[in-house]
Amino acid sequence: MQILVTAGPTREHLDPVRFLSNRSTGKMGFAIAQAAAERGHAVTLIAGPVTLPTPPGVTRVDVVSALDMLDAVQRHLPQHDALVMCAAVADWRPARASANKLKKSDMQPVLMLEPNPDILKTVRPLKGARLFVGFAAETGDPLAEAQRKLADKGLDLIIANDVTQPDAGFAVDTNRVTLISATEPPAGLPLMSKLDVGRAILSWLERHVRA
Ligand code: CTP
Repeated sequence: MQILVTAGPTREHLDPVRFLSNRSTGKMGFAIAQAAAERGHAVTLIAGPVTLPTPPGVTRVDVVSALDMLDAVQRHLPQHDALVMCAAVADWRPARASANKLKKSDMQPVLMLEPNPDILKTVRPLKGARLFVGFAAETGDPLAEAQRKLADKGLDLIIANDVTQPDAGFAVDTNRVTLISATEPPAGLPLMSKLDVGRAILSWLERHVRA
């Protein structure tokens, strides 16, 4: 299979030194890319700003903002059989970005934002027989929210995790997730390394590939 994975946060710059972003470190997406390459799949990894090394055998494309990530996904998707959107895409960007560092005296106490496109929904018309996998990192009811996003974004599989637990979610090497598909009952996995979560997602993709 040719697998396209996104990972990490996006940064939405206000000026060259300030940005809006989130706590994603890219570990889960890089683990998926590593698991896929280990199994002999061709992997393209679109990475937001993270400090992780590229897993062996993986082709990496670095991006900064959600708009950059959308552009990279649109360019690379046609050559791939599956898209795994693990990136924590920022939903909003500053309405205006300054080319020069803003002076305190030029700044307003309220930031004007505008919405970023939803990458999964934007590329949905290109889906065809491809498998689309999303993530739902939640602090509320992970399963209910994940079910909603699975349907709303037209996904084949969504990975739900509760990011309020210290051993799951952001910045740690372990995760506790539930795999939710449109056709099978939810499959809760025990606490495991992110690499093993990546391997479980790969097994699912290998079982369901249509191309
Ligand atoms: N996603 C995306 N484009 C965005 C935001 C999210 O493609 N602009 C993808 C994520 O990569 C993830 C899935 O959609 O695979 C769910 O992301 P999440 O941030 O949990 O959902 P949102 O759609 O942002 O919904 P909400 O803010 O209501 O939780």
